[in-house]
Amino acid sequence: MKSNWNQELYIKACRFAAEAHQGQLYPGTELPYLLHLNLVSMEILTALSVEPGLDGDLAVQCALLHDSIEDTDTSYEQIASMFGVKVADGVVALSKNPALEKSQQLIDSLNRIVQQPREIWMVKLADRITNLQSPPSHWTQEKISRYREEAIEIHTHLQAASPFLALRLAEKIQTYHKYL
Ligand code: NI
Repeated sequence: MKSNWNQELYIKACRFAAEAHQGQLYPGTELPYLLHLNLVSMEILTALSVEPGLDGDLAVQCALLHDSIEDTDTSYEQIASMFGVKVADGVVALSKNPALEKSQQLIDSLNRIVQQPREIWMVKLADRITNLQSPPSHWTQEKISRYREEAIEIHTHLQAASPFLALRLAEKIQTYHKYL
C-alpha cells in the first residue's frame, strides 16, 4: 500500500525544524522543543492513516514547521523557498500575529486557518491535542481555565476538518477538566 506522505519530505522538514528550534525547550520542562513537533506530527500521521483524500505531505510538513515562524527567526520566504508557498502559507496561518493584543491572537489565527486547506486546520487540532497534557506547574488556575476555553474554541471552529482529530481533542478537553 502506498502512503500518502513522503518520508524524504518528512526528514527534510524535521531536520529544518530541529535546527530552527535548537536550544528551545518545551515550556515548563527541560525537554527539547522537538518533542512537541514530534507529537503533533504523530497525531497527523495517525489521522492520515484513517482518513482518506488528504494531502499528507502538506499536513506533515506544516506539522513539523508550524511553530518555526512564531517561535524562531525563520522567515516566510525561507519556508516558501525550501518547502513551497502552500506550506509557507499554512505555517503563517498557524502563527499568532504578535502585533495584535493577546486576547485577539487566537481568533485572528483561526480566521486565517479556515481560509487554508483542511490539512492546516488539522495541524491546529493536533497542536492543541498535544498541548492538553498536564499544565506547567507555574500556570495559575485562571490560565489553565483559559487554555481549556481556547481548546473548545479551536474545536468549534475546526472540527469539520477531521472527525478523528476532533474526537480526540474533545476527549482531551474532557480530561483536562481534572486540572481545574
Ligand atoms: Ni505548537
